[in-house]
Amino acid sequence: MIQKVNDLRRSFLEFFESKGHLALPSFPLVPQNDNSLLLINAGMAPLKPYFTGQEIPPRRRVCTCQKCIRTGDIDNVGKTARHLTFFEMLGNFSFGDYFKKEAIHWTWEYLTETLGLSPDRLYPSIYGEDEEAFAIWHDEIGIDADRITRFYRDPETGECDNFWEHGAGPCGPCSEVYYDRGEKYGCGKPTCGVGCDCDRYMEVWNDVFTQFDGDGKGNYTELEQKNIDTGMGLERLAVVMQEVDSVFDIDTMKAIRDAICRMANKTYEAGQN
Ligand code: GLY
Repeated sequence: MIQKVNDLRRSFLEFFESKGHLALPSFPLVPQNDNSLLLINAGMAPLKPYFTGQEIPPRRRVCTCQKCIRTGDIDNVGKTARHLTFFEMLGNFSFGDYFKKEAIHWTWEYLTETLGLSPDRLYPSIYGEDEEAFAIWHDEIGIDADRITRFYRDPETGECDNFWEHGAGPCGPCSEVYYDRGEKYGCGKPTCGVGCDCDRYMEVWNDVFTQFDGDGKGNYTELEQKNIDTGMGLERLAVVMQEVDSVFDIDTMKAIRDAICRMANKTYEAGQN
């Protein structure tokens, strides 16, 4: 079983290379020619001109493991098992090439066949009205309808978990995959399920169907070409594969944590409460 962070990174890139993708190195954290972002916050961010068609990509299928800094949910860092400020994001991208069908089939193939995750513990979600994504998960992959969660826009804020956008630029509806880590990580509330704030159902994969260009103010225009933007947090995936409590316990983080403890002459978690 592939478990270590460095092996997971390699296996993801090799899987998508085998599907015709060009693996590119991570772009710098400081955006080049993008005034809408202070720091790169997702694998797709440095690739925006390829999504909009402004620039020609080196290949229409690309995969990366992108260094990211995300501060929008900084208040959750240290409180949940899954939030980080700096993290690495695995991504496969289609610039006007394949779309929902291939993206969802490869998601499932990678998670269940390459990584060997149990299908019984995986739960897809879709954008409320995305019947095309529903049909692929249900009719082609064979997931029962009651295991596919639909997320809708909040009528007051207009926000939706399954509509992906960060700043201005390419965006669209998405389909996530959650992994059930088991009851011991749950909040115990009767409503606990996919989308709950607790750490039981951990989102590991996000297929964004990038079909709009947003101006950052809620106005969207349909892109001429349909794209795929996948985001999978490498550290979250490692939590699942290593069956550890949190992102701070995965092999690479633990090595750093242990070194800091040695230097500070402290024992991790000693003296809590
Ligand atoms: N761009 C997809 C994600 O960050 O989840």
